[in-house]
Amino acid sequence: MDEYFHNPVLLNETLQLLEPKDGMIFFDGTVGGGGHASALLQKTSPSGRLYGCDRDGDELLRTSEKLSRQFGSRCQLKQGNYSEVDQLFSGVEFDGALLDLGCSSMQFDRIERGFSFQGDAPLDMRMDRTQELTAEYVVNEYPADELADLFFYYGGVRESRRLARAIEEERMLRRFVSTKQLASFIESKLPRAGKKIHPATRIFQAIRIEVNQEFEHLRSALDKLIPMLKPGARLAVITFHSGEDKIVKDFGRTLARDYVVEGEVDIPEFRKERAPLLKILTRKPVEPTEEEIKQNPRSRSARLRVFEKAG
Ligand SMILES: C[S@@+](CC[C@H](N)C(=O)[O-])C[C@H]1O[C@@H](n2cnc3c(N)ncnc32)[C@H](O)[C@@H]1O
Repeated sequence: MDEYFHNPVLLNETLQLLEPKDGMIFFDGTVGGGGHASALLQKTSPSGRLYGCDRDGDELLRTSEKLSRQFGSRCQLKQGNYSEVDQLFSGVEFDGALLDLGCSSMQFDRIERGFSFQGDAPLDMRMDRTQELTAEYVVNEYPADELADLFFYYGGVRESRRLARAIEEERMLRRFVSTKQLASFIESKLPRAGKKIHPATRIFQAIRIEVNQEFEHLRSALDKLIPMLKPGARLAVITFHSGEDKIVKDFGRTLARDYVVEGEVDIPEFRKERAPLLKILTRKPVEPTEEEIKQNPRSRSARLRVFEKAG
């Protein structure tokens, strides 16, 4: 792996399962720092191609310069959301596709983006800085009930209602505008009680998922990608959150069935037979080795699932 590309999570495992070879065409919906993209381009050389996107224009610009210097026109990148893959790369058919979800280390490390509370910055958290919804809006304008649901479902925080009500009271006195301000307030309401992880970590994660509508885009991308895969093509998805992993697992299971269900409930008498659309290649998700976690602690929660489109 070239030094100047981002340290990609579960790289060897992803490559083993995607089996890139000369001449193949890949889609990378989360180009980020270009680690996976550059490895796929190397493995598909000399004639393979990679079509990629990232919703973060700043990130994509930097990576695109590096990738095009090394791989020229074999690599075609566009700023955009992977949930719009059908419009971004209309008419292209892929031999394989990768989604490596969540934020990149660079996004976390650029304090001014507001994803982290390691330094002080405006409450932003937008991956795509042209979108309107920001973390500041979510924290100051969402009704307490909605905030509580976000904290509970996306953050897994049990004291979600109490915290949401406290935020509602506080914001009547002064608006939440910065990451440090919000993190300190959360810490004052949800003390650590000996836990190593700062109590704001999960709340920040929940707000980020909402600001970027991450689950909605994932569902939509999975639906749109399947018709763009060639028969036998593989789709790899790396998740970092149990909610995301469940979306991917359920999606795979539904398409791997040899029947469709009519209506909301699966009643055997109402099943309609059809050929499975996908094969599941990872019964259990692939997890990083201890070695990888030691080298890159952010890989800790990564889970990889891979599917193959029926031939
Ligand atoms: C974990 S990083 C990817 C790292 C990359 N695989 C590498 O090796 O450098 C996730 C990237 O996905 C992007 N992203 C997240 N959601 C997206 C979406 N819905 N559409 C396009 N890009 C998205 C983020 O902006 C971020 O750059």
